[in-house]
Amino acid sequence: MQLAERALQHFTHKTTDQAGSTMEIPLSAYRDEAQYGREIDRVFKRLPLAVALSLELPEAGSYRAMTLLGVPLLLVRGDDLKVRAMLNVCRHRGAKLCEDGAGNKRIIACPYHAWTYNHEGGLVGRYGGDTFGEIANDKYGLTRLHCEERAGIVWASLTPGDVFDADTWLGDFGEELETLDLNNWHLFEQRDLPGPGWKVTMDGYLEAYHHQLVHRETVGKYTVGNLLVLDTYGPHQRLTFGRKSLGELAQQPQQDWQPMEHIRLIHSGFPNLSISGILGDHCLVSQVFPGQTPTTTITRQTILVAKKPQTDAEIQASEVFSALTLKAVQIEDYGIGFSIQSCLDSRANEHFIFGRNEPAVQNYHRWIERFMKLNNNVWENTDGTAQ
Ligand code: FES
Ligand SMILES: [Fe+2]
Repeated sequence: MQLAERALQHFTHKTTDQAGSTMEIPLSAYRDEAQYGREIDRVFKRLPLAVALSLELPEAGSYRAMTLLGVPLLLVRGDDLKVRAMLNVCRHRGAKLCEDGAGNKRIIACPYHAWTYNHEGGLVGRYGGDTFGEIANDKYGLTRLHCEERAGIVWASLTPGDVFDADTWLGDFGEELETLDLNNWHLFEQRDLPGPGWKVTMDGYLEAYHHQLVHRETVGKYTVGNLLVLDTYGPHQRLTFGRKSLGELAQQPQQDWQPMEHIRLIHSGFPNLSISGILGDHCLVSQVFPGQTPTTTITRQTILVAKKPQTDAEIQASEVFSALTLKAVQIEDYGIGFSIQSCLDSRANEHFIFGRNEPAVQNYHRWIERFMKLNNNVWENTDGTAQ
């Protein structure tokens, strides 16, 4: 209700939440390879990352293998139903254990010499063990990465030995994520999209200033352009956009309001998660993973449906939503992103300038700078505005 009220205020007055000032970011932040390497190590490899949704690992033995930022990651739900993160690398002579993908395994067997590991990563079998020689199996379990499940999301650190506390990391944003009830959705589709560089990509997820122009055929049809209600939770942010029908609320008594019919929420988890409920029963989860260079990323797009579509009409509605998000992101957002990158070396700009109406993008860049100076991942709650 409060969000709808704040959004309606802006709609009526043609205003938006604003940062205190405009902000300049030098182009080197988008192109410099050395800076990129340092930022990836600090921001992506040392902070808790949203690596999967809990519902991707539905039961004991479910696994999900993926290579993130060059790190071979294996997630497995154990027999105690806890998800563990491990390096997907055999402790004998380092073969990769599971092909990237998902499924269920009774046991994890190495394709090279058939050492076997249980769901908890313990070494349980060595082929020809008598001939191999004595070793303590418990010293050769898979290398663990710290991992916690919160709010239907699997968070992990990609650096062995690093630990974090998910509640501290998320703060009040954790409760916000809980309201999405992610465990109870149905996974309709998942795909990996190549995109432009990390910052160009994420900048686009954090403002509605571009919606009317870039997305006029897709999400722009449903969204009020240049209207943002912003709440921050340290580095994490909740963006509220207005739907085209927002103005109708001005004619209705407040007790009749159905606020979610008129606004749209984006939950943005630092540094690479965006959860967007666009059309009622459908939700788009995006995880942006930087590639080998400052100008490449892979975005994992997961389409969730409130309940498993059964009828042809329901399946078609989900397919329409999926196609809409694909077009909006791959063709429209990433089309602009690639075009920005094709001009990065043109020397037209020494910096990019972010408007007062782009406060979430400003916050995002400020938190990158802050984490580059911080040695831990404990953030202080700030007053919620860009500063
Ligand atoms: S490398 Fe895995 S069993 Fe030898
Ligand atoms: Fe966009």
